Amino acid sequence: MSHQDHCPPARSSSSRRRSASAGQLRAIGLVGALAAAVITAVGCASMPSPRELDAQAAAMIKAAFRDEGIAKVDRIQQDLAQSACSSDKAPPPQVMQRIMQEAMATVKFPAAGQYLGDWREGERLAQAGRGMTWTDASADPKGNGAQCYNCHQISKAEISYGTIGPSLYQYGKLRGVTDPNSPSAEPILKYTWAKIWNSNAYMACSGMPRFGHAKLLNDEQIRHVMALLLDPKSPVNTQ
Ligand code: HEC
Repeated sequence: MSHQDHCPPARSSSSRRRSASAGQLRAIGLVGALAAAVITAVGCASMPSPRELDAQAAAMIKAAFRDEGIAKVDRIQQDLAQSACSSDKAPPPQVMQRIMQEAMATVKFPAAGQYLGDWREGERLAQAGRGMTWTDASADPKGNGAQCYNCHQISKAEISYGTIGPSLYQYGKLRGVTDPNSPSAEPILKYTWAKIWNSNAYMACSGMPRFGHAKLLNDEQIRHVMALLLDPKSPVNTQ
């Protein structure tokens, strides 16, 4: 919609002044119509388009922040997925398709097909929410937590968890992963790795952080949370 769409055509006010004489009517009508035209013209000329308003809002937000330590203002720049999924309308199907394809193309699968690490480390990471703040000395993911419990149920022992995401309790067991090294387990390992690396690969407007893509976790850390979900010895699958 262009901003002209908001501007009503100028209309004479004469028809609304039925009690006035013909002369008065013409005079009032003329003045009224002129006033209306001027207001309309000034109002419309100075009314910014939605695009201009967006730009103004973005400039205001940008001006409200400053670089501080590892937290740089460039974090507020949105990529296609972020801007399309922040709109008041769901992105059209072909945009969603593009977001998912581009997200999938970002995924780096682990060297030598080494998908799983240590589930104990995975549990520690899943519990930890620390990282990415301006008080952190380094942007290296190795100091970050994975905060999976903020959104998911995972092990039975942890009863404090968020529910924005689906429960991941018995994740590997429910998917029949009894031997992670078997060829039949590979599709599940690949899917889970890609989901954690860049959640948009399977859902264009996912609310889950893009852990690998956004450098929140490194490969070793992703292996550990993978083991928490998929190692048959992990309490997620034994209990
Ligand atoms: C901010 C919330 C949030 C955080 C933090 C989060 N997730 Fe998610 N996750 C979601 C949501 C929402 C979904 C479902 C929508 C989707 O598929 O993107 C999901 C889906 C998933 C799925 C797919 C489940 C299935 O059955 O296919 C997996 C696997 C997963 N998350 C693992 C993790 C792991 C591991 C972590 C921590 C490293 C994590 N998530 C952190 C929100 C989150």
